[in-house]
Amino acid sequence: MAKQKKPSLNLAEAASAIMDPVGGIELDTDGLRHRGTRSAMAEQKTILLVISGGIAAYKALDLVRRLRERGFAVKAVMTKAAEAFVTPLSVGAITGGRVHTDLLSREDEADIGHIRLARGADLVVIAPATADLLARMAGGHADDLATAVLLATNAPVLAAPAMNPAMWAHPATRRNVAQLAKDGVRFVGRNAGERAESGEAGPGRMAEPLEIVAAVEAILSPAARPLSGRHVVVTSGPTHEPIDPVRYIANRSSGKQGHAIAAAAAAAGARVTLVSGPVSVPDPAGVTVVHVETAREMLAAVAAALPADVAIMAAAVADWRAAEEQASKIKKQPSGAVPPLALVENPDILATVGPDPARRPALGVGFAAETANLLKNAETKLAAKGADWILANDVSPATGVMGGDDNTIHLVSRAGVEDWPTMTKQAVAERLVARIAATLAER
Ligand code: CTP
Repeated sequence: MAKQKKPSLNLAEAASAIMDPVGGIELDTDGLRHRGTRSAMAEQKTILLVISGGIAAYKALDLVRRLRERGFAVKAVMTKAAEAFVTPLSVGAITGGRVHTDLLSREDEADIGHIRLARGADLVVIAPATADLLARMAGGHADDLATAVLLATNAPVLAAPAMNPAMWAHPATRRNVAQLAKDGVRFVGRNAGERAESGEAGPGRMAEPLEIVAAVEAILSPAARPLSGRHVVVTSGPTHEPIDPVRYIANRSSGKQGHAIAAAAAAAGARVTLVSGPVSVPDPAGVTVVHVETAREMLAAVAAALPADVAIMAAAVADWRAAEEQASKIKKQPSGAVPPLALVENPDILATVGPDPARRPALGVGFAAETANLLKNAETKLAAKGADWILANDVSPATGVMGGDDNTIHLVSRAGVEDWPTMTKQAVAERLVARIAATLAER
């Protein structure tokens, strides 16, 4: 059997690890001073490390050291359970600053507060991420400092899970991890193999500190955030056009595609404003969401969100609304006479934004939802709405696109038509965002 690992380091051991000349760092009176070259990427970047209570918490000390060697500033938050495995004193000795442990600490609130702690980070890393912490995150809890910070942060979140293999395999953990991945949380590891707990092997071991550092660098590298500094406005979902207080005109759009695009643009570093009609999909993390109901409200929200570098109009806006919205519910007539329903055309949001040089984003992207003559209609919309690209998709019921998880896109531009294979709406979003980033970089 492999040698047991130590469950924690005490301060003396931590300090000797810091003094280790092989590690290339040394302690000075202000905390840590670094020898060697810092990577340019690490300049100014702050990592907020959340340590939860698992045996792998001892590796968090080495992780801090590796991050600081590369020039990252590291702030640490520990859960109560983590303190059973490593002490705030030893973590503080290595981060070179205070370790935050309490949600309702008068000192913390007066000093920096959990919201500022959450907002001040470029990346939040959870190592180890226990089954319990993942469950509380998936449920949106905020009953301790770690979960409150995780709920309040706008920064990307990277989790390094560590738990017993049976806990990792449990359907509840599978559900929580799937939910968190949908919410935009990235994961590194869990690795198979011998764990610090005696006699337990199998998937559940935390990724090694250097693997976590590599994941951190990948997330924060400029190449991974090609839309950094850009503002992207996205519309998504249907609109509801009221007929009377209980009835409305709508369509089958789910918002899945538009929301996936907003999430992908945010993951690429953009500041994203998502203007969403009524949908049941959740708001993507790290995105400013403006909820609207009608086409006119959507137009006003888009106009208020401009200027933008990119506008992506994925909403299936209702083309018509009731000419007159009735103040009270229209009643059935004993005679069986049906009420006249006069319609008027809604403003076209894309066509309003597209041709106006003052408001026009550098790149205007629309969709064409068609059930016949897909490419011809898309080309007509490209010209009529002044868009740069139209993503044409066939929304006939047989395709399952409306409300489904997959999409087949034909990118229509003045340069021609590009056929994309059928893929998930998330993959469409990622491909579109990569395409947008490349196009903006060329200009
Ligand atoms: N669009 C918009 N405002 C509208 C209608 C459509 O901004 N009032 C945008 C959509 O978000 C999409 C593009 O225009 O990006 C094309 O929408 P689509 O529903 O395919 O076509 P319509 O313009 O509504 O035309 P039609 O219904 O005749 O196909």
